Amino acid sequence: MSLLTLGIESSCDETSAAVVADGREVLSDVIASSLDFHKLYGGVVPEIASRKHVEVIDSVIFQALKDAGVKPEDIGAIGVTRGPGLIGALLVGVQAAKTLAYVWNRPLVPVHHLEGHISANYLESPELEPPFTCLVVSGGHSHIVRVSDYGKFRIIGRTRDDAAGEAFDKIARALGLGYPGGPVIDRTAADGDPHAIRFPETTFPDSLDFSFSGIKTAVLNYLNNTRAKGGEISIPDVCASFQYAVTDVLSEHLMAAAELTGDKNIALAGGVAANSALKAQVRKKAEARGLYVFCPKPLLCTDNGAMIASAAFYAAKNGRYAGSDLNAVANWSLENL
Ligand code: KG4
Ligand code: ZN
Repeated sequence: MSLLTLGIESSCDETSAAVVADGREVLSDVIASSLDFHKLYGGVVPEIASRKHVEVIDSVIFQALKDAGVKPEDIGAIGVTRGPGLIGALLVGVQAAKTLAYVWNRPLVPVHHLEGHISANYLESPELEPPFTCLVVSGGHSHIVRVSDYGKFRIIGRTRDDAAGEAFDKIARALGLGYPGGPVIDRTAADGDPHAIRFPETTFPDSLDFSFSGIKTAVLNYLNNTRAKGGEISIPDVCASFQYAVTDVLSEHLMAAAELTGDKNIALAGGVAANSALKAQVRKKAEARGLYVFCPKPLLCTDNGAMIASAAFYAAKNGRYAGSDLNAVANWSLENL
């Protein structure tokens, strides 16, 4: 008989709950986003995110059960994002999960948000199993992670300043394209020339770490200098050239990481993994090296409950349970689960 996990996610602006069978099959995935409220302010406002989670979390969870056609007693374990994320937002999901675990008398499983993003690949690709090397790129993180086994992670590269998604969001704001920046830059770049403007790519000797603040400053300087000289700015060219610089360095480092780990399977995860240029670059470079690329569909790249339910299945198999004293941790380490 299959084990059903309920996954609850509330680390940022999405309130989501999902039911997944055996860590692989999505039976339901309900996502409520408070994005429209944050758009007014050009970024996520933590206080608003927390309030919106409180308003909808009950109905999101019960809708997830309804969509899956299951009852509380069918649920084998309740997984919840414990961290990292916005502390007030995380607390809403953790409190809801603890309450249901108590009332329904079900085990509670703490899940790391990035472990969730990585697990989205298990939902997309039933044949994928560890080990593999994964690029996790979201609004808050840019990591290259070696997944040696289910629930076992080693970070082999990370950003030293901005996350990749953050860079997309900041550049979109500078161009007046609104929030979030990734999807609109992705679309606008389709009409631009990725080689029109050369923005610098920062690397560090003997390291797979990233830095995106230099690219961001270079784009802002380009915009200011061109405007000061009364020159024409092609927004599609700026988007395409910026996107090229970011995705080139991400894909190059992922290839170098795969060489280091020896893994033939590589994966993408997180909101920025929905980027079409990133996927295209990674696929092209991987093909030349005989590597297989895994990537979730866009809805599973951005925050969702199904990825948390999948991760919870494997965490439960590893015996990772929590009691009613579980607390949210804003900066929980992926290497110490
Ligand atoms: O994983 P996610 O939903 O939330 C976090 O955990 O941060 O990622 C959100 C981030 C935002 O910065 C957004 O701009 C970016 O993912 N994003 C994209 C695309 N879709 C979302 N970035 C580049 N291209 C996209 N198509
Ligand atoms: Zn995320």
